Amino acid sequence: MITRLTLVNFKAFRRLELAMGPLTLLTGLNSSGKSSVLQSLALLLQSFGRGRAASPEEGLMLNGELVELGTARDLLHDDFGPADDLLVTDAPLVGVVVEAGGTGRFIARYDLDEPDEDAMEAYDFPGGWSLLDVPFQYLHADRITPAVTYPRTRQIALGPGFLGVRGEHTVNYLRHHAEHEVPDGPLRHSAATSPQLLDQTVAWMQELCPGVNLNASAVEGTDFVRLSYGFGGTAGINATRRRRPTNVGFGLTYALPIVVACLTATPESLILLENPEAHLHPKGQSRMAALIAAAAATGAQLIVETHSDHVLNGVRIAVKQEALRPEDAVIHFFRGNGSGAEVITPRVDKDGMLAQWPEGFFDEWENSLDQLLD
Ligand SMILES: Nc1ncnc2c1ncn2[C@@H]1O[C@H](COP(=O)(O)OP(=O)(O)OP(=O)(O)O)[C@@H](O)[C@H]1O
Ligand SMILES: [Mg+2]
Repeated sequence: MITRLTLVNFKAFRRLELAMGPLTLLTGLNSSGKSSVLQSLALLLQSFGRGRAASPEEGLMLNGELVELGTARDLLHDDFGPADDLLVTDAPLVGVVVEAGGTGRFIARYDLDEPDEDAMEAYDFPGGWSLLDVPFQYLHADRITPAVTYPRTRQIALGPGFLGVRGEHTVNYLRHHAEHEVPDGPLRHSAATSPQLLDQTVAWMQELCPGVNLNASAVEGTDFVRLSYGFGGTAGINATRRRRPTNVGFGLTYALPIVVACLTATPESLILLENPEAHLHPKGQSRMAALIAAAAATGAQLIVETHSDHVLNGVRIAVKQEALRPEDAVIHFFRGNGSGAEVITPRVDKDGMLAQWPEGFFDEWENSLDQLLD
């Protein structure tokens, strides 16, 4: 598990050091650098992650399946400075340093002669490989929307089990792995009809919409799969009638990749999520947090960007209910200060209480209430 990430001259950060836990929440203002943190890890994974490029000589690939960061010039912090502890050359450096007890270092050199290249020379890898040689998921804020069909790529659904950065392979993955068992433990939903992935997914989706069920099937003779929903018995709807995603609202389909990414987490997995709360009603957001905490409790590492009070509180409740140890929930609040971000890390105690509430940290409810009661 990655316990610390250090970024040097990386996009908004002149230098940033972040503690990481089994569940790390990245919160704070827009454009304060939360996604950039996820992108730094995605950059390593797309270059050197399991099943990716063979050797460090190939360097960091700035544009690929996970992230499209542009050129070396785009990546280098505008106001870059020396990185004393990484210093191996006079050339400007972009450092992404991941650590887990010992140290794995990934340092990329910005080549002044070729600033518009979309690869960067990378070197210094002691111990770093094993941190990246893990199953991973990375789901962007912009995910699959309700559609009539989704892609059917056998190699992706069966191979690395990668759901796609937009979750576009989720439906095909579910189709192939419907009977795969979710191991006994925190992730297994007790109300599900079986431990199998499809039934477990349905049970968690019912937390968002009671009575819903889903089905993933191939569209014969094409390269597509189809997702359909049923609403057994609710509101007098005929239980046997299937509905296409475009006719059942936005939230369910948008949340599906998050649910499947969490349910398929293994103790080795690294799961990067942007805005799991998107398009969900408040209680649904809170239940997504419970699912994310359950995945972290199984031993996976989840790094989650969120703007949701309900996700934050859901994690606090998971701690209070002893579903997650307090030290396993790491909460960072990014506060942009014009020239990079300042990060405050309120600690959570065993009762789910936070040690500090910095200004701007999920305080809008009270601010609004003050104005209403004034
Ligand atoms: N080369 C660079 N030098 C300095 N700053 C940069 C550079 N490249 C990008 N930035 C800044 O990095 C920030 C990137 O923000 P990021 O996408 O990480 O925001 P975020 O916190 O995820 O926001 P949101 O909540 O809207 O998703 C922006 O403020 C952008 O101006
Ligand atoms: Mg973001």
